[in-house]
Amino acid sequence: LIQKFLFVFYISSLFWRENVCADNRKFPPDFKFGIATASYQIEGGWDADGKGENIWDHLTHQTNLVKDHSTGDITCDSYHKSKEDLALLKDLGVDFYRFSLSWARILPTGYIDGQINEAGIRYYEDILSELEKHGIEAMVTLYHWDLPQKLQDDFGGVLNDTFIDVFANYAQLAFELFGSRVKYWVTFNEPFIICQQGYENGNKAPAITKAPGIDLYTCAHVVLKAHAKVYHIYDTFYRKTQKGKIGLVLNTDWFEPASGDPKDLEASERQLQFQFGWFAHPIVYGNYPQVMIDRIGERSIREGFKTSRLPKFTNSEIEEIKGTFDFIGLNHYTTTLTRWKEDEAIGKPESLKDISVEVFKNPFWEGSASSWLKVVPWGIRRISKWIKDTYKNPELIITENGYSDVGGIFDDSRRINYYREYLSNVLEAIYDDGVNITAYTAWSFMDNFEWLEGYTEKFGLFSVNFTDPARPRTPKSSVNYFKNVTKTKCVVE
Ligand code: NOJ
Repeated sequence: LIQKFLFVFYISSLFWRENVCADNRKFPPDFKFGIATASYQIEGGWDADGKGENIWDHLTHQTNLVKDHSTGDITCDSYHKSKEDLALLKDLGVDFYRFSLSWARILPTGYIDGQINEAGIRYYEDILSELEKHGIEAMVTLYHWDLPQKLQDDFGGVLNDTFIDVFANYAQLAFELFGSRVKYWVTFNEPFIICQQGYENGNKAPAITKAPGIDLYTCAHVVLKAHAKVYHIYDTFYRKTQKGKIGLVLNTDWFEPASGDPKDLEASERQLQFQFGWFAHPIVYGNYPQVMIDRIGERSIREGFKTSRLPKFTNSEIEEIKGTFDFIGLNHYTTTLTRWKEDEAIGKPESLKDISVEVFKNPFWEGSASSWLKVVPWGIRRISKWIKDTYKNPELIITENGYSDVGGIFDDSRRINYYREYLSNVLEAIYDDGVNITAYTAWSFMDNFEWLEGYTEKFGLFSVNFTDPARPRTPKSSVNYFKNVTKTKCVVE
């Protein structure tokens, strides 16, 4: 009998272990867990039911830039499978779902006074009702990179101030239509990438590389003004009745100084300011970081420009932009080392030469399928602490964090390890550093179209069979892991 008892005790302790919190610490009771996707990456249905063409449809159809020559024409086919997907989400136990609206699915030309696509509206309404039914909150991104092509053709997209009102009209329509059921709004996903890759180095649509060192700054200027305008529309007309929050999602690595040399510390700080501060500084303090104003201004003049290539905000714009967030979203995946570097000679074509910092990776860090993504869990704690200290401890939501592999791997121990280690650093940031992190979002719900990498890098918790027309989803073992995290609110072993 004793033997039997011990055996039962041993077996049940195995199950029990799974739910033990590392460090005996739980996430705060109101802390939320979510999972993310983006319209172009999962929806497919690229021309279904009246959707207009966007810059990613255009780029994938007109160029050979995507590594595996794939497109998002069908991708996960979530346009036709959202009910099924939302049932999976329910099972995952998440508190919220972060997804984005395809602007051209709602407004095929991008303009409010063009045609409004009822089928597109119904698609998102159905998602929102389904989420409501399951008790899952919605975090909705207005702009996750799929600009209606017509707006690119008509006035050059995000390079033109015309964009501001056109975007504001679209955003206001979205608030009207969906706002009563949206808890968190995100205006733009990763403006750094929108501008630096879309209008500088050609790594994202519309892949315009015509005016290096200039267009990226113009783009950011327009994005910031558009963001502020939309924030104020929400704040003035919708906040009271709809009771949601609105913010901006910024991406950055942690930039770790390569040595204790004060110059390397300066390099790390400068790199952070040129990436995160480029957008965070304006929305917190009203203007660009001083180091950007100084360096770009000075270089521009030496290069023979009459004024700085970094556009200037007027005083009233500064007032308008300052404080335009309820939370800051952080997309963070990895860490990079920084070393101080002499300024390069003027006229060299390197992108972002204005920063002049040497960046590199430690070769011993564990890699992933993405060349830029090394597993460095402590980086998320340091970047969170830096944000707290630099921007007056804002409400910080981790809006993306995740790991890529090449697919076909169902023993998902690397991804599980990634989540466990990053989550435990998030926990330390909250309790040991006092960072105001209120939510965590895993990227991504399912394998999807990874931009110019096509289907070669997979971030999903669910795998998708892209050769089967039915696009079946299969849970990887990380699904179980994540379920345990959402259920117990702790970093399970
Ligand atoms: C950032 C982007 O928001 C998302 O679209 C992308 O797939 C992931 N990071 C992974 O690269």
